[in-house]
Amino acid sequence: MPIRTDPDRRLVALDTDATTYAFAVDPAGLLRHLYWGPRLDRLADVEAPALWEVSTNDSVAEITHEEYPIHGGLRFKETALAVRFEDGSREARLVVTGIAVDAEAQEVVVALLDAPRGLTVQVHYRVLPGLDLIERWAVVRNEPSEAGREAGVIAVTAAASAQFHVPRAGLTLRNVFGHWGAEQQPFTQQVGPAALVLESRRGISSHHHNPYVVLDADASEDAGEVWCAALAWSGNFRATVAQTPYGDTLVQLGLNPWDAEVTLAPGESLTTPRVVAGYTAQGLTGISHHLHAYGHGLLDPRPRPVLYNSWEATGFEVDLEGQLALAQRAAGIGVELFVMDDGWFGRRSSIDDGLGDWWVDPGAFPDGLGPLIAQVHELGMDFGLWVEPEMVNPASDLYAKHPDWIYRDQVHDPDTARGQYVLDLTRPEVQEHLFAVLDLLLRENDIAYLKWDANRPMSAVGAHRDAHRAHIEALYTLVTRLKGTHPGVMIEACASGGGRIDLGALGVFDDVWTSDNTDAADRLVMQRAYSLIYPAKAMRAWITESPNFLSQRSIPLDFRARSAMMGTLGVGTDLMRADDAELKALAAHIATYKRLRPTIQDGRVYRLDNETGNDYQFTGYVREDRGQALLFAFLQASRVGHRKPTVRLRGLDPAATYRYAVNGVPHEHSGAYLMGHGVPLWLMGDYDSALVEFDRT
Ligand code: DGJ
Repeated sequence: MPIRTDPDRRLVALDTDATTYAFAVDPAGLLRHLYWGPRLDRLADVEAPALWEVSTNDSVAEITHEEYPIHGGLRFKETALAVRFEDGSREARLVVTGIAVDAEAQEVVVALLDAPRGLTVQVHYRVLPGLDLIERWAVVRNEPSEAGREAGVIAVTAAASAQFHVPRAGLTLRNVFGHWGAEQQPFTQQVGPAALVLESRRGISSHHHNPYVVLDADASEDAGEVWCAALAWSGNFRATVAQTPYGDTLVQLGLNPWDAEVTLAPGESLTTPRVVAGYTAQGLTGISHHLHAYGHGLLDPRPRPVLYNSWEATGFEVDLEGQLALAQRAAGIGVELFVMDDGWFGRRSSIDDGLGDWWVDPGAFPDGLGPLIAQVHELGMDFGLWVEPEMVNPASDLYAKHPDWIYRDQVHDPDTARGQYVLDLTRPEVQEHLFAVLDLLLRENDIAYLKWDANRPMSAVGAHRDAHRAHIEALYTLVTRLKGTHPGVMIEACASGGGRIDLGALGVFDDVWTSDNTDAADRLVMQRAYSLIYPAKAMRAWITESPNFLSQRSIPLDFRARSAMMGTLGVGTDLMRADDAELKALAAHIATYKRLRPTIQDGRVYRLDNETGNDYQFTGYVREDRGQALLFAFLQASRVGHRKPTVRLRGLDPAATYRYAVNGVPHEHSGAYLMGHGVPLWLMGDYDSALVEFDRT
């Protein structure tokens, strides 16, 4: 039973396979955090320190480790919730009124109430035993009947999904930073007494930080304590991490209160996004494996097809003839899905026109998309299409007809970014219009895949106080409705490259576009950082040309292909410029990928150590039920002191024997040997690479 209670002490313990998370209601009615760490069988051990042991000078509310504190009283710390009542007061007091356990759903709901104000809060917990994770979220409700007073509105000015207390100080925070073309750049930062804030204010989860917190004290990949919290949300978020004066670390994660306010009329409620959190003593790989399993649970289990995407080849210059020529070559190398990117609709010829007009450009496709799709099918591929539904160009029929459909204020001119505005998706008529247009597109054309782009941030939302949150809710509703109406259609989340990589996107979309930077060496850095939280199954990666359009770096095809094969493989090369040798090599890599796909897309990922002084990256994929393991090895630059690396694998069955070949020479070794001693490789020069397959005998 994953939920244990001690009614006398009003205590609840949430047990996963290897962890326990415990809280209790204290005599003042505060919901007090008690324990988060390795699994505890003896509940009696869990007790809160007496508050005088913490501080005799500070108020109870200040020093209590509350699970979901609200602004008000003698509280000067970070609070999870803040509201403003109709009379202007921000003063609230919550006390616990009940704890409900739903054994079947493995869920606990703690009810809190500010009785005089009629404000109720439900703090939700769900246990995910096999994954060693818990989920948390909150529901804030304006419940005037509780107050026995005249009903008034309540403005919610901040509502995090959860607050956590990690029982250690001196921890290291891990996240990513970046910008367009440089997403998923990993960094670590020491947590100290000054708060660290990670956030997005752009209306997407963004290229700049990612909505999660990973904390550890010198954990390695396979050992050491790690705590994590990741938010299932594709919009503005805020994470606050700080060492408290009392020797532990506070983490708060949820909707960003920046430029946001949710108004609750009597009877209305706000449900926050979910945050998934966990502890492990098995190091960074341990936490990644739990989160990957969680991600797989969100994703459609079907294998992701090998796709071709036209963007780097043809840009906005798309027409029937050009796309057909590409499609023929794509089919010839084994591509399964042909995706036509931007440029096919309205009067689109650059970033400055056409968005919003989702009718097929008759100049480029005189008979619509039908002939192209028919040919693509005849070539044995599915067809996919790029769309950017949330946006509109000023130069479009849609904007001419509905200039009031964008986020704007009534006084100032709205700003364009990438030549476009953001449609106010929170308006029912905009929702209906977009559903109708996309539904028609999918009904009239046999489309198996949409690449759903979003190329500018939201800004200047005018009087709409809840725009950033409501936009993402509306986006999820729209995508979910489309997928419900057209089951089987897969949708890729893209936002100017990797601006929508988050667990919220994984819950609704099927793939995420990692970055417009397709340089294979840069991608190795991004992909490794991505793998801390997200599963390879959703990570789109393309093989593109050399020199790369962005980095201008020349990298051999084997290296480029293997780098892209570590996720869901695509090809973005201009195939019309590829010679026979290159097409043949691409075909060979695609065939290899298809053979290894079940291990790459559904196996376990191990970020292996580079024990040499040289610039290697090693990654293992293991699929136990297939008895298969893979080693992806890359050498970027050989330097003085280069020596043959011996790569120690992880995740194998020590008692099993594995067959593999290095440089064409066959070997057979036990899992114990391959993990304890390792595999000697021989990579030389610059941009050398290897992909080694291990099959259990
Ligand atoms: C940004 C995306 O990241 C690219 O892959 C491409 O689809 C362009 N938008 C098209 O405008």
